[in-house]
Amino acid sequence: MDSLYRATRIDGKVFAAGLVERIADEVAQIRAKTGKIPGLAVVLVGDDPASAIYVNSKQRETLAAGMESFSFRLPATVRQSDLMTLLERLNNDRRVNGILVQLPLPAHLDTRAVINAIDPDKDVDGFHVINAGRLFTGQSSLIPCTPLGCLMLLKDRIDDLTGMKAVVIGKSNIVGKPMAQLLMAENCTVTVAHIKTRNIAELCRTADIVVVAAGSPGLVRGEWIKTGAYVIDVGINRVEREGRSRIVGDVAFEECGHAAAITPVPGGVGPMTIACLLENTLTAWRWQNEPRPLTNDND
Ligand code: GUN
Repeated sequence: MDSLYRATRIDGKVFAAGLVERIADEVAQIRAKTGKIPGLAVVLVGDDPASAIYVNSKQRETLAAGMESFSFRLPATVRQSDLMTLLERLNNDRRVNGILVQLPLPAHLDTRAVINAIDPDKDVDGFHVINAGRLFTGQSSLIPCTPLGCLMLLKDRIDDLTGMKAVVIGKSNIVGKPMAQLLMAENCTVTVAHIKTRNIAELCRTADIVVVAAGSPGLVRGEWIKTGAYVIDVGINRVEREGRSRIVGDVAFEECGHAAAITPVPGGVGPMTIACLLENTLTAWRWQNEPRPLTNDND
């Protein structure tokens, strides 16, 4: 599509590196002032290779930011009651400020009950029903890492989101729903589209901001995007192209030259997710050690 715009590529890797650097500085200050270090506990159940890769990167980045990392690997056959006992121990451990249970869990475990067994103030994934409710009602909450990262990338480019029309594609509890809440809190007019939505292309064409978390490679075409819109692609899809396995997003990136700015895949939203996990661990540390603010501050 011809236009005066040349979309800026939003480099999530560079932004995330800057964020991790600021977090590491703050961790060093906390350590110097209090002798304490924020700590993150990561629980992995089973031996799914993709989950193991994610968990290893989370632990590596935690240590790189100067935080303490506690790792728990449980067999795929673990009993629900044993997992609950571990979470109770971590809830009561003062060295542990954040707790993350890597998902998905094996089918015999009750994922909802597991998430809700985490102390909401240590729930650095922001998945606990209390954190979802706090976000919904505008109270300070731990916010799911991926939508938090998307919002940071948008706010880095746009001074004030007030009055902008945003379309979020995807209605998951992890991305779509919290993303819509965050954009609403920024005074955007938000539409949530999903697999059953009719005329999704027309909806997108009216949007100033499009956030896509559909898990469908190349779903969003360039002709769906308004000239000068901001496009955030949360998709991470493995596809076979020209005999090679590649990671692609939910947006046809090459067709979106007329956007104002767009995140690539890989190298866009992905690196922000782990950086925001560290940010949430720091936030959890503050709330456990200092007075807690009443509302979220996403600046
Ligand atoms: N599995 C895939 N993404 C996530 C995430 O953000 N948090 C957790 N706990 N598990 C995941």
